[in-house]
Amino acid sequence: MRIALTGANSSVGMNLLNHANQHGDLQFIAGVRSEKARESLPQSEQIEGRCIDYRDGATLAKQLEGADCVVHLAGILIESSTTKYQEANVDATRVVVEAAKILGVRHLVFISVVGANASSTNSYFRSKGQAEELVANSGLSATIIRTPILLGPGTAGANALIGSAKNSKPKALGGGLYKMRPLDIDDLNTAIINACKRQAPACALYELVGPTAIRYCDLINMTARALGASTDIEVGSISITVSKFIAKISSTLRGGGFTPTVIEVITQDEVVAHNAVEELGVSLTPLTTTIEKILEQQ
Ligand SMILES: NC(=O)c1ccc[n+]([C@@H]2O[C@H](COP(=O)([O-])OP(=O)(O)OC[C@H]3O[C@@H](n4cnc5c(N)ncnc54)[C@H](OP(=O)(O)O)[C@@H]3O)[C@@H](O)[C@H]2O)c1
Repeated sequence: MRIALTGANSSVGMNLLNHANQHGDLQFIAGVRSEKARESLPQSEQIEGRCIDYRDGATLAKQLEGADCVVHLAGILIESSTTKYQEANVDATRVVVEAAKILGVRHLVFISVVGANASSTNSYFRSKGQAEELVANSGLSATIIRTPILLGPGTAGANALIGSAKNSKPKALGGGLYKMRPLDIDDLNTAIINACKRQAPACALYELVGPTAIRYCDLINMTARALGASTDIEVGSISITVSKFIAKISSTLRGGGFTPTVIEVITQDEVVAHNAVEELGVSLTPLTTTIEKILEQQ
């Protein structure tokens, strides 16, 4: 089976491709937006890097020719002056759906986020919810996986966590009292591969989160202990209200970056109604193991 990845140079894509040899029966078409990104992809006989764009479905279908399944990973949390949620999260998904239909793929996998909702007042969650609707209404055999913060090599979440844990006086928004369900990136990739192999007949929507619900301040301490700290460190508090105010001004001036929307996303409690470990065939990695892995791989 040939699986095409969009956003193959994302942290999820790179991690999947770095473990391609664990799936000897699979070939990957790794879709990226630039030659530079193509050159950065892991070298393997199983991986064919291709430059793709999202201008229309027919063009993308040509660029992904030969794919049996498409895994749509491209998407953003942080907007920039040139890339907004509408383009990166909604319009790109529309084009991927069109391409998947033209290609007649057997299955489409879309990575969404816990909290996605097309009616949300938060523009990030809304864009991911709108993208989900495009996939769900496509008529394609598809799997949507809503994920929480991902921990793995190169993920933004892991980088921020390690930075805080190495700091003797870390600070977090609201003291880091919000609860997370961090998911090991390898577990997400197992779910993605299983979804491609199982090929649900219609569109299946799942939430997949890590095994432990933990406050961010406690996660920082858990990571600090794994780094050798003998006692708990006190996590200072950064006011969420003040941060949103500053973020509003700076993001307006810069045309993107850290916005009140992003602050709302990262400080929300990650709660799910049902953790789809069985449906996605995943055996969750214990959080302590995930932390050891990200520290080893940094
Ligand atoms: N990381 C997490 O904790 C987390 C949590 C929940 C959901 N997710 C979702 O999981 C997926 C992968 O996340 P990630 O953190 O691995 O991603 P990432 O490392 O931030 O990479 C983002 C990818 O999106 C591409 N991209 C950016 N703007 C684009 C645009 N306008 N059109 C098309 N592609 C664009 C980037 O390509 P270029 O390099 O060419 O810009 C890159 O390949 C995303 O859909 C994300 O929303 C991630």
